[in-house]
Amino acid sequence: MPVLNSVLSACSFGRLGPGDSERLGEFLEGLSAETYKTFHPYSLTKESAQRALAEVEGPVIAAVDDSGGILGYAWFHPEADAYPSVGICIADRARGQGIGKALMRELQADARGKGRSGLMLWVVKRNDAAVRLYRSVGFQVIGETEYDFEGERLESHVMRWEATEE
Ligand SMILES: CC(C)(COP(=O)(O)OP(=O)(O)OC[C@H]1O[C@@H](n2cnc3c(N)ncnc32)[C@H](O)[C@@H]1OP(=O)(O)O)[C@@H](O)C(=O)NCCC(=O)NCCS
Repeated sequence: MPVLNSVLSACSFGRLGPGDSERLGEFLEGLSAETYKTFHPYSLTKESAQRALAEVEGPVIAAVDDSGGILGYAWFHPEADAYPSVGICIADRARGQGIGKALMRELQADARGKGRSGLMLWVVKRNDAAVRLYRSVGFQVIGETEYDFEGERLESHVMRWEATEE
């Protein structure tokens, strides 16, 4: 698909570290209110970007455009677990172009290279885009859970990917 190829070839993938908190903060602050409903590991501010980069014990991988702007990022944590937990978010304007899938593939290669058993995550059931993304890279539903978020009860899938399966 030409569109997908042109977007993916126009972006590069790299690691983020504590020195990248300013541009990660700009990325978080640019996310829509709608995104916050499904992606809320922390408030979407520059301060929380700084804290997140300092505290993640594992890789934080970003897709970056040709001027250095972050199009999306993903991580797993803590690296020492057999099945570290995954988080991922793509900029609203950059979705549906294969960037999420490419970042998940990067995380999976990293986890496999480090001898992890696999990766796991929790995803709100009605977050169709995320559930589809995770299934498309080999994650399977292994359980259910629910939690309260800002007064709303959110039903979620627990999903896991086994590093030995592909
Ligand atoms: C979920 C998210 C990361 C997907 O990233 P993306 O770059 O748009 O996904 P991709 O373009 O790589 O698509 C990957 C797969 O998901 C599917 N997909 C993507 N968006 C979709 C949508 N809105 N509805 C249904 N399927 C969708 C694609 O068709 C593709 O499936 P396929 O390989 O079987 O064709 C992105 O929508 C996002 O950042 N959402 C907000 C944050 C969030 O919810 N994070 C997850 C919290 S658990």
